[in-house]
Amino acid sequence: MNSIKDHENLNFKIVLLRLDLNVPLKNGLITDETRINKIIPTLEFLIKKNTKILIISHVGRPRGKVSKDLSLKPICENLEKKIKTKIKLINENIFKVKKDDLFKKHEEKIIFFENIRFYIEEEKNELNFSKHLASFADLYVNEAFSCSHRSHASVCKITEFLPSFAGLQLEKEINALKKVTTEIRKPITCIIGGSKISTKINIIKNLIPRFNNIIFVGGMANNILSYKGNKIGRSINEKNCENIIKEIFDISKNQLCEIIYPEDVLIGKSMDGKAEMKDLKDITDDDLILDVGPKTINKIQGIIENSKTILWNGPAGYFENPNFAKGSFEIANSIIKKNKKKSIYSVVGGGDTVAVINQLNVIKDFNFVSTAGGAFLEYLEGKELPGIKALNYNVRIK
Ligand code: 3PG
Repeated sequence: MNSIKDHENLNFKIVLLRLDLNVPLKNGLITDETRINKIIPTLEFLIKKNTKILIISHVGRPRGKVSKDLSLKPICENLEKKIKTKIKLINENIFKVKKDDLFKKHEEKIIFFENIRFYIEEEKNELNFSKHLASFADLYVNEAFSCSHRSHASVCKITEFLPSFAGLQLEKEINALKKVTTEIRKPITCIIGGSKISTKINIIKNLIPRFNNIIFVGGMANNILSYKGNKIGRSINEKNCENIIKEIFDISKNQLCEIIYPEDVLIGKSMDGKAEMKDLKDITDDDLILDVGPKTINKIQGIIENSKTILWNGPAGYFENPNFAKGSFEIANSIIKKNKKKSIYSVVGGGDTVAVINQLNVIKDFNFVSTAGGAFLEYLEGKELPGIKALNYNVRIK
């Protein structure tokens, strides 16, 4: 991979900068700004080098349709305030835009395109779309490690048409994860939660040989509970996962990896409602499982206490409602307690998990915090992520 920090002459170049500003939004307000804060040094670097910056990002999963709720406008405004520089947001259909339309005014330094996932071609890694994106710029920078596990046009295909470079933050993330995977101390525990079940469930079986314990919490755990014959009411879950879960349990038996899942839960009748503690046998058809219960917390705390390395990806419950935040907060506090005694190496990944630890204001109490969720897990699986592979390939063809 070539690094943008080693580029010798960036003067007046137009840089197409792929960011992952997929931040949590509630009623148009950003509820966690970590992903925005992390890329500010990159923008400052590029501004100092006298470049023009064309930003591409996605937020949410609009699946090729324009959606007002998934506009980058609030993110763009937030960033504008942070870096005290005017940013132009282009809403126009990207196919109608030409290179000459951009940076017409001398003072224009940063331009944002609207959510790139408003175009179906993005997720299809489409060739002509990638070529069109490339036509706007002189070089490409991937500063979106957290979506480098996606074979999308602005992450992969585009590297075939522009000299391509790794961003400052992307390099940092890879170096830190490399360290984790090479210097890991056993017993290793991986806590996997959150709601992006389809992204994560297929990865687990490849993680089993590398870990001593895999703890399922959050939405991820509901599929396991259902597979084990428990009612899960109206809780979030993924269809047709039985075979994958069977494989997870079969492989774990031969690999000395313990699979842990909730023994009790907190349910609500609505996402905004109150919490009620329930044993698994008491869950009814109208219940929503929204957090782990006290027996489960206790068990997880015991496992953390006996671990030397912990990797945590995905909250234990719907922490956005304080009634269901206890599981995630207790996990965070148990890791921090051990971290303070320097008896555990802790790595946390994923937008929502970072939001949890930000709520507690404890981000500095972990050894490494990655903004990546799915990409983080796929990296641990030992795979070369498509976006990283594309950057390496770009070097080879030059
Ligand atoms: C993330 O939040 O993990 C990345 O932005 C990727 O998002 P996706 O899972 O919708 O592709």
